[in-house]
Amino acid sequence: MHAPVDVVILAAGKGTRMKSAVPKVLQRLAGRPLLGHVIGMARSLAARATVVVTGHGAEAVEAALPSLADGLPLRTVRQQPQLGTGHAVQQAMPWLADDGVTLVLSGDVPLTRPQTLAALLAAQAAGGPDALALLTVDLPDPHGYGRMVRNPAGAVLAIVEEKDATDEQRGITEVYSGILAAPTDRLRRWLARLDNRNAQGEYYLTDVVRYAVADGVPVVAHRVTDAVEVAGVNSCAQLAALERAYQQRVAQALMAQGVRLADPARLDVRGELVCGQDVEIDVNCVFEGRVVLGDGVRVGANCVIAHATVEAGAVIHPFTHIDGEAAGVVVGAQARVGPFARLRPGARLGPAVHVGNFVEIKNSTLAAGAKANHLAYLGDATVGERVNYGAGSITANYDGANKHRTVIEADVHVGSNCVLVAPVTLGAGGTVGAGSTITKDTPAGALTVARAKPVTIPNWRRPAKRKP
Ligand code: UD1
Ligand code: CA
Repeated sequence: MHAPVDVVILAAGKGTRMKSAVPKVLQRLAGRPLLGHVIGMARSLAARATVVVTGHGAEAVEAALPSLADGLPLRTVRQQPQLGTGHAVQQAMPWLADDGVTLVLSGDVPLTRPQTLAALLAAQAAGGPDALALLTVDLPDPHGYGRMVRNPAGAVLAIVEEKDATDEQRGITEVYSGILAAPTDRLRRWLARLDNRNAQGEYYLTDVVRYAVADGVPVVAHRVTDAVEVAGVNSCAQLAALERAYQQRVAQALMAQGVRLADPARLDVRGELVCGQDVEIDVNCVFEGRVVLGDGVRVGANCVIAHATVEAGAVIHPFTHIDGEAAGVVVGAQARVGPFARLRPGARLGPAVHVGNFVEIKNSTLAAGAKANHLAYLGDATVGERVNYGAGSITANYDGANKHRTVIEADVHVGSNCVLVAPVTLGAGGTVGAGSTITKDTPAGALTVARAKPVTIPNWRRPAKRKP
């Protein structure tokens, strides 16, 4: 039986090397703040309590927390000033009960797998009720990390920070990940003994290892093989490298599942991409939020698709931008969209709809077989089956104060360059002549032409240019 697990997330540090006004833990990886990834770990562990230590940029970090927590109860404590990782954990201690095990996570180490944390907790439990467990990894380039100092028999003696290390210690390739698990009562007593007599003048959390060793408590190192799992983000270069590593994993998983990626190195998934069978994705596509691609969907090069469902057999041609935001976008089965199309929130395309180049659709439903092939705008419209919506036509859906609906019934043909001034309904099977401005409902089956009367002024001279 495990002791209850309480999580402390360290998110108060400055992240000086990012040279950003945005706190480091709010920098984005795969479209999500680093801290969001770490909170996700606490959620997956079903922790009893989760305490987030804020400090640098605390207002911004705390303001972001409700959306990052997504329902997970979090307590925040401020660390002011920021005197080191040990000092940070000290701030959280009043909120942690002695009967638990505390798992310390770093707000800047975003990609640890839940199974790895579970294994660390199991290693802690296996070491006995007092054991301290550290997550470690071997790095070919350990620069910047705390090194694991062991005795000749292999027992852990201490963690030495890069700046405090001797040349010999800098040669150690096993590093501390920033993640540890310890019985809370023990941790509380070790933290009370910390001092800041070191190269950085900080209270190092890593010094608890020395105290554990001095107390004769078992110190276990749980060593992982995948450096990505424990990689910390301290610079823009590390953030970018981790982003690539993450995207490569996503690409490999998609291909393993049968998705045909033209180039796994040129795909970015910033959310959840769910694919059916025989999906093909060309280069340089970006997916955001939850995107579902049905069986046989093809996505051309350079598309951005966010918060959308694309049903079976639909084709998204190159350079298409789809963003459903909260309302979502649906592209029906066998539909064709793009190139250069823009689908905005609430665009719902039925089966076999065609939307061509430079067509923008917002909060509109297009029924089966409707077509808007060139240079057009449909906003707040209900478009019937087989409607043909001509080039250059727009819905004037906004009167400056309110939005109004345009209803285009089945089989209507709207000629080129029409303005449909909403609210307005075009009756089924009717035709609207090119260049019409429609301000009144049109009858079913009729031809309606509504153009301004041509004006011709004979012998008209252009005004002469004024001399400057
Ligand atoms: C820390 C470890 C190092 C380890 C590395 C792994 C210490 C002393 N060193 O070093 O052994 O190899 O992580 O990534 O723990 N933070 C606070 N308050 C502070 C200082 C930091 O909350 O006063 C937070 C930061 O926001 C960050 C985390 O603690 O999320 C780690 O701090 P950072 O300064 O990045 O430590 P490292 O030098 O990377
Ligand atoms: Ca760090």
